[in-house]
Amino acid sequence: MPPFTFFDEVHKGFDGVEVLRGLTLVIRKGEALVILGGSGTGKTVALKHIVGLIKPDSGQVYVDGQDITGLDENELLAIRRKVGFLFQGGALFDSMSVYENMAYPLREHTSLKEDEIEARVMEKLKMVGLEGTQSMMPDKLSGGMRKRVALARAVVLEPKALLYDEPTTGLDPITTRWVSTLMRNIHEKLNITSVIVTHNIQSAMAVADRIAFLYRGRIKFVGTPEEIQSCGDHIVQEFLRS
Ligand SMILES: Nc1ncnc2c1ncn2[C@@H]1O[C@H](COP(=O)(O)OP(=O)(O)O)[C@@H](O)[C@H]1O
Ligand SMILES: [Mg+2]
Repeated sequence: MPPFTFFDEVHKGFDGVEVLRGLTLVIRKGEALVILGGSGTGKTVALKHIVGLIKPDSGQVYVDGQDITGLDENELLAIRRKVGFLFQGGALFDSMSVYENMAYPLREHTSLKEDEIEARVMEKLKMVGLEGTQSMMPDKLSGGMRKRVALARAVVLEPKALLYDEPTTGLDPITTRWVSTLMRNIHEKLNITSVIVTHNIQSAMAVADRIAFLYRGRIKFVGTPEEIQSCGDHIVQEFLRS
């Protein structure tokens, strides 16, 4: 089976400083892959390459069998339609109810009728355990609930893959565990490819089929949570014990 994403020797720098230095990584179709690494190592930069928000200086990025490196903004829309992205912070529109937040991508990208939109919104809200909250405004929700609404909104278009950027940052340990379990459940229930960028080791261990450790712009190690725990690399071990 072709991979969902393939980074092939990707180099990317800003203002003369190289961040990705020949990043090569296969993300398999249907797996939950965590990109783990310290802050400022280029995790967000790597993730943004998958939806063409950032382009490589050299090297190729393949998504769902297609080389997306040379695509223009218009062609990238088709890629973004099948890859959901949960940005850091997962911002909801504060002036819209939960329902309108969820319906928004459906109104923008589909020609579904109102009753179909409603059915889809309710189904996804139920999936994250938030049925009954549709008329609430985001500022009335707890941090964990906002996160769950953002998650439900990210899957409302039924993407083939879901990208998460630091989904547990700013959450307390209990909510972090909750959100990690929810990500794993959604991954399994929707049968999608999940790519999770994090520096939270516990969350990585709970969600991942495989963990890729990013260090100095390259993947230093990739393997299952068990394999990374027993890997002999001292830089990896130092990070796991930090
Ligand atoms: N659009 C940009 N312009 C300039 N520098 C950037 C840009 N995006 C990221 N960087 C730099 O690239 C490095 C890696 O950033 P990032 O991918 O956000 O790290 P993290 O691993 O914490 O997600 C940082 O030094 C950051 O300042
Ligand atoms: Mg980041």
